Amino acid sequence: MSPMLAPPSPAALRACMARFATGVTVVTYAGEDGPRGATMNSFTSVSAKPPLVLVSVARRARCHDQLLDRPFCVNILGAEQEPLAWQFAGAREAAEPRWADGTSVPRLANPLAWVECEPWRTYDGGDHTLVLGRVTDLGHRDGDALTYAWSRFGAATESTDGFEYLI
Ligand SMILES: Cc1cc2nc3c(=O)[nH]c(=O)nc-3n(C[C@H](O)[C@H](O)[C@H](O)COP(=O)(O)O)c2cc1C
Repeated sequence: MSPMLAPPSPAALRACMARFATGVTVVTYAGEDGPRGATMNSFTSVSAKPPLVLVSVARRARCHDQLLDRPFCVNILGAEQEPLAWQFAGAREAAEPRWADGTSVPRLANPLAWVECEPWRTYDGGDHTLVLGRVTDLGHRDGDALTYAWSRFGAATESTDGFEYLI
């Protein structure tokens, strides 16, 4: 039998994860008292058929229970939208964000891209829950992407000559 290894410390895990660069999203949904959202960088694309995406939601977050049972929208932020990332992480007070008009699921105004989902499956993720959404609508615009690495926000310049044929 292999010996039990001591689990890595949260600090060691964080140090590794800080070196993994991601984009930044705000996941929006209809709260009890109006549109709500939470900043999340655990977003990933999962499947094309059916079209599925995933976010990992902290059990202690206010949005946790609500994202399990209602449609939500993943708003992928543009480089100039860093203030929204702070705001929806609860780190900074700010003016009421601008919301897109006439949507059934609350969506931010003018995200770099957006992916609207209905809940599909959830899985135990320790102190998080993995929420898979089935994509029901989406859209995008031109612009640079907001990034997160080394525990800092940054930017990835828009490009039209990537390697999308490899994936
Ligand atoms: C860059 C960044 C990424 C984050 N990613 C996640 C995430 O993937 N999942 C999560 O549950 N919280 C994440 N958070 C923390 C939430 O944004 C934060 O806890 C927020 O206050 C949750 O809002 P709520 O409690 O109103 O639902 C992230 C915060 C930052 C700044």
